[in-house]
Amino acid sequence: MGSRETEIYNLLNLVEDFLLDGFRHDHSPLAVNAAVDTAGDRDSPQPERSAGPAGPAGPAGREVSPQQALQTIAEEVAACTRCPLHRGRRHAVPGEGAAAPLVMVIGEGPGAEEDRCGRPFVGRAGQYLDRWLAAIGLDRTSGCFIGNIVKCRPPGNRDPLPEESAACLPYLERQIDILRPRAILTLGRIATQILCNRSEGIGKLRGSELEYRGIPLVPTYHPSAVLRNTDLRSAVWQDLKRLQALPVLAGRLGGPGQGGPEQGGDPSP
Ligand code: URA
Ligand code: SF4
Repeated sequence: MGSRETEIYNLLNLVEDFLLDGFRHDHSPLAVNAAVDTAGDRDSPQPERSAGPAGPAGPAGREVSPQQALQTIAEEVAACTRCPLHRGRRHAVPGEGAAAPLVMVIGEGPGAEEDRCGRPFVGRAGQYLDRWLAAIGLDRTSGCFIGNIVKCRPPGNRDPLPEESAACLPYLERQIDILRPRAILTLGRIATQILCNRSEGIGKLRGSELEYRGIPLVPTYHPSAVLRNTDLRSAVWQDLKRLQALPVLAGRLGGPGQGGPEQGGDPSP
């Protein structure tokens, strides 16, 4: 193709992307692992065509399944250089879980373990989170999708900077658009503040009725914080029960499983 032709082709693609804004929400029950290996970005599969963080996904003119749309985001994230966090990453961590989740769980950003393997919440905090989910009848492959505010690890596990969160947020917004969870569980201050546009601490925010674009949002403490301070456990249990009792979820989550106070304890480490 000559350069003029390429230019027109690219322009048509852009127009098409614009017109096709939005995804088909057929919510097939397949589980996806949207993590993509980015160890050495040069070896990673590149997306056919990147629509940019705020654009739609999928080959021109065709509707895409939620899985394909999530996969496209994972590939874009793997190649992303929109903020300085890309420099230190070994693997980007796009998130993983069910393609039609009841609950989307949103943390802050990958830690060392997650950066090593490209999957969210696989370290100690993640194992603890698995127990919280099990306590309300969820697990990471059915019923929920686990994501983060930033997809690349902040050095030394520091909080993501506001500009890093802002740069990465369009990916999460697209994921939420595709997944359309019935409810959102935010873990910790950063995820709650960013999604709800609030500035209070998590101690203030938890317990209040919040939402993200019409989706009920339940904030709770970050599992790492609860591992450090076990006094927070009963608050987490209350928050999980509030999540379970949301009208949009009524009857769909399992009853309190192992680890709940009904079994004589909080979802404890
Ligand atoms: N902490 C987070 O906030 N996210 C992860 O994926 C792991 C730890
Ligand atoms: Fe891109 Fe997000 Fe990674 Fe920054 S943190 S480089 S915006 S994927």
